[in-house]
Amino acid sequence: MAKVIAITGKGGTGKTTTAALIVKWLRANARGPILALDADPDANLATVLAVPIPKTIGDLREDTVREIKKLPVGMTKANYIQAGLHQIVVETPKVDFITMGRSEGPGCYCFVNTLLREFAEDLEDSYEWVVTDNEAGLEHLSRRTTAHVNHLIVVVNNSPLAVDCARRIHEVITSLKNEVLHKHVLLNGVNPARMEALKQKLAPLGFNFLGCLPHDEAVEEQVFGGKSLYDVNDTPATRAMDEIMKKLLET
Ligand SMILES: Nc1ncnc2c1ncn2[C@@H]1O[C@H](COP(=O)(O)OP(=O)(O)OP(=O)(O)O)[C@@H](O)[C@H]1O
Ligand SMILES: [Mg+2]
Repeated sequence: MAKVIAITGKGGTGKTTTAALIVKWLRANARGPILALDADPDANLATVLAVPIPKTIGDLREDTVREIKKLPVGMTKANYIQAGLHQIVVETPKVDFITMGRSEGPGCYCFVNTLLREFAEDLEDSYEWVVTDNEAGLEHLSRRTTAHVNHLIVVVNNSPLAVDCARRIHEVITSLKNEVLHKHVLLNGVNPARMEALKQKLAPLGFNFLGCLPHDEAVEEQVFGGKSLYDVNDTPATRAMDEIMKKLLET
């Protein structure tokens, strides 16, 4: 079964950057086939890795609801969705991408969602790793799109609100009894002078402390230039990610 790494945290803390650097690390370290799942409706995981995404799960959901009455004889809704899913998976060397896209508009999507969930679970089994970049906030936890997770990583930056968000995430996963095997916290771009104070604030939540991703000019420049984070090498953030992933794999 695939090992799922889900990235979460407050808006703008560095979730997408973290997810991209994790995908890059797993790819570079030959850890087996990877599925990168962009579960943020603002969809930018693929963008920071410069992977074009022609179609999202949201598009397929809309298409299915629209086409359902016109399906050719012999084609079931399940066949249609399964065929559509193959167009959604973007294959690149060692990493496949799926983008969730926008959530549904008005209309009944329940059956489509149920089928999609089943197919997605089957699909995940063909990978060694699933890395999910989530939208900011907690909704993905309560919607249980983050139900089976081996490693949940909460990204915290300098903002005190990011710590509050980590606390709420802790409460939600505890109350929902989500199947989260390991809960980690990762500091991103934190001023070293504040590191200890932040660690102390986070300590009562019982997260495993993964380390700190430093602010990295090369990362900033690459994203600003619309270039892939795959091409950022031997910089403060990629070196830190090496330590972070080794620590994560030890848990
Ligand atoms: N360690 C870092 N070094 C340099 N730039 C960074 C770093 N972490 C994040 N950034 C930059 O900060 C901005 C926000 O980061 P990112 O998009 O990863 O946050 P996010 O949590 O995914 O945001 P959102 O909640 O909007 O999805 C981006 O422009 C990103 O390139
Ligand atoms: Mg993001």
